[in-house]
Amino acid sequence: MTQTSLSWRMATGVAATVLALYASPVMAGNEAEVAEHLIELVKIGRGVLSEQMKNINDPAKADKGFTGDYMSSQVVERFKKSTKLDLRIPNVVPQANLYLALVQAEKEVVDEAQPIINKPGISFKGFIPAVFARRVGEQFYKKSGVRMKLTGIDYRNANNKPDDFEAEVLRMFNDPRHPKGQSYVRNTMVDGKPVLRMMDPEYAGPTCLGCHGSPKGDRDVTGMKKEGWKEGELAGAISVVLPLK
Ligand code: HEC
Repeated sequence: MTQTSLSWRMATGVAATVLALYASPVMAGNEAEVAEHLIELVKIGRGVLSEQMKNINDPAKADKGFTGDYMSSQVVERFKKSTKLDLRIPNVVPQANLYLALVQAEKEVVDEAQPIINKPGISFKGFIPAVFARRVGEQFYKKSGVRMKLTGIDYRNANNKPDDFEAEVLRMFNDPRHPKGQSYVRNTMVDGKPVLRMMDPEYAGPTCLGCHGSPKGDRDVTGMKKEGWKEGELAGAISVVLPLK
């Protein structure tokens, strides 16, 4: 399928979605899988952005050729590779509308960042995977009523602050007895309504330490104080709150 028809499908698909979603929260039974897929879509988008950091922060270049369409087509393609679900054929994918709303949010966040991405003459532009994830979560919530965020114990951005549930699960993830990489899922209530909550832990890799590593308290390239993380330590988690029927 060509890129044009993909974008067209996504544009039209998503418009229909937003209305359909409010009327039909996720059916009981497969919610955990749906939450896993949403997390996968965010991770893929962050991965696509990570690969572009050098390009985006190249002061010698204006147009970077890194567009929202590129983001959405890459996310759809890689999601198919990892899950076998093809969002280009949404009628055969359960919850495709919800997934496409998230892909659309990822596209929009990259589109909205075009002025800074394509600004010549400056290197570091601040459009990093964590900022992308936060904006995508905010945009996706408006479209779907599903909350998604990147959170952590020693959070930098107040919008990423863990709520009580998240803080408790982060403490559990931080316990050496917790099996590394194992996510946490629970059906519970938020504001008197049934939800499924899922959290997926993330650990500090070598590429994170330039900003979050040592020496603790020194300023990173963004001007914020480094946390002093060591490689392999818990960095935070992706958190999903999925409303249920
Ligand atoms: C270029 C510097 C930089 C790098 C590299 C970086 N981060 Fe961050 N990170 C930030 C900034 C800045 C924020 C705050 C983003 C925001 O405004 O929401 C952040 C936020 C986060 C958060 C959300 C909680 C919070 O602090 O608000 C997590 C979790 C996180 N980073 C993990 C990682 C991991 C894991 C890596 C490596 C894969 C990584 N970061 C690489 C700068 C960086």
